[in-house]
Amino acid sequence: MYVCLCNALTTSDVRKVKSSGVCEPIQVYKILGCSMQCGKCLETIDEILQEKESQSSQKDIDYQKRFSVQVQA
Ligand code: FES
Repeated sequence: MYVCLCNALTTSDVRKVKSSGVCEPIQVYKILGCSMQCGKCLETIDEILQEKESQSSQKDIDYQKRFSVQVQA
């Protein structure tokens, strides 16, 4: 699931960075070799970084619902 359309970053990309100990969204962009563009993904990336491991599956569903609403609007 894409969380950052400007940089084509996925939830999987963010979680991989998170597993290396990153806890700030700005660090995620830097480690993945990009930078924040529009900033619309900032809150979502922060949520992923803050979530507990057991919440990951439900968060994927929530992100998919949020993305679907944005596409239809
Ligand atoms: S969606 Fe991530 S910077 Fe625009």
